[in-house]
Amino acid sequence: MVKKLGTKLVNGAHDLVFEAVHNRCLIYNVCWEDPRIDRRILNLDDASRMVVLTSAGCNTLDYLLDSPAEIHAVDVNPRQNALLHLKLALIEHGDFDDLFRLFGNGSHQAFREIYRAIRQHLPAYARAFWDERIEYFDSTSRKKSFYYYGTSGAIAWILSRYLLNASRNLRSRLFDLLDARTLAEQREIYQQIEPALWGRFTSWLVKQPATMAMLGVPRPQIRLISAQYPGGMVGYVSSKLRHVLTEVLIHDNYFWRVYLTGSYTADCCPNYLKPEHFARLHANIDRVHTHNATVSHFLRDHPGRYSHFVLLDHQDWLAWHKPAALSEEWELILANSRPGSKILLRSASPELNFLPEAAKSAIRFFPELTAALHIQDRVGTYGSLHLAEVL
Ligand SMILES: C[S@@+](CC[C@H](N)C(=O)[O-])C[C@H]1O[C@@H](n2cnc3c(N)ncnc32)[C@H](O)[C@@H]1O
Repeated sequence: MVKKLGTKLVNGAHDLVFEAVHNRCLIYNVCWEDPRIDRRILNLDDASRMVVLTSAGCNTLDYLLDSPAEIHAVDVNPRQNALLHLKLALIEHGDFDDLFRLFGNGSHQAFREIYRAIRQHLPAYARAFWDERIEYFDSTSRKKSFYYYGTSGAIAWILSRYLLNASRNLRSRLFDLLDARTLAEQREIYQQIEPALWGRFTSWLVKQPATMAMLGVPRPQIRLISAQYPGGMVGYVSSKLRHVLTEVLIHDNYFWRVYLTGSYTADCCPNYLKPEHFARLHANIDRVHTHNATVSHFLRDHPGRYSHFVLLDHQDWLAWHKPAALSEEWELILANSRPGSKILLRSASPELNFLPEAAKSAIRFFPELTAALHIQDRVGTYGSLHLAEVL
């Protein structure tokens, strides 16, 4: 009885921390889903009408390279759209060098001047957000990188400082790993450093509900993982990390590089930071529309026949906390799609066991295609990837 009450209190506290964090903070400073996999599945073209969750906006810019007719970047957290707007304003009104310094290096000596020049092109809410936080890009600050701000960034800062300062050997082997060119090299290095990666501090940190709240992992996902994985959260993260660092080539894995080093390189960065793509992004910029709303609110206010929905992993959360909202979201997705519309989603669980019956009978899945791509994913922390097509 006492133990049950204790667990209830801990769970309640986690939900409160999660809500407080999500209602006040920028959570994601990078998109934590691999758009290379998405674009292979989505088959975008100039007739595509997309609805995507914004997160940090990196993937919206990746999809924009396929020149879809429109991308509606929807996020219930306006700070995420404020981040996308900063990138859009730099692409539209700035130049490639400044874009790369700010978002490739994570800082710029002239960040204040650049911000002053583009500020007028931001919507009022994004201006209000960045007026208070443009110092995230200050190259003289202690953190020296935007990628160590926001709640995910704060955890990346703590973990990366810990790992890079733990011992000289671990530090140099981690950099060797980032520079490895073959899987054989990666495996050899990883085998040597794995025990040091999972010392007492990292195992403790990963188990803390507050850490997960700051990384944007809600209790339903922690529960899904703890129930299905031997070794709970540490077992899950360590096995996912082993896979991604030993089975997927690291030389262009910008997701892990940016959190370890605080920056990208010219060869290892998202597509929106490559000079050869700048002109196309600039030309297509008017195709992006942002909406501070839930997916359901957006669809109710902007009905249409959308061809693609990129839902990330947010339905894990809805399934647990708001099953009625999950059913409503599926009803609205189906009502605003057409036969052949594609829906892409990820989950912490190996299976999607929460789909409403009405949705199941209206879509079909492609498990062979997605299973083969899932194992090549450069993020590598999800339990599964799913593509559904509307019948
Ligand atoms: C689902 S989270 C997960 C992070 C993700 N895997 C990534 O790539 O960064 C991504 C974004 O979805 C937003 N979000 C969560 N539920 C939502 C909903 N029902 N409607 C719109 N946005 C939502 C969050 O605010 C967050 O910025």
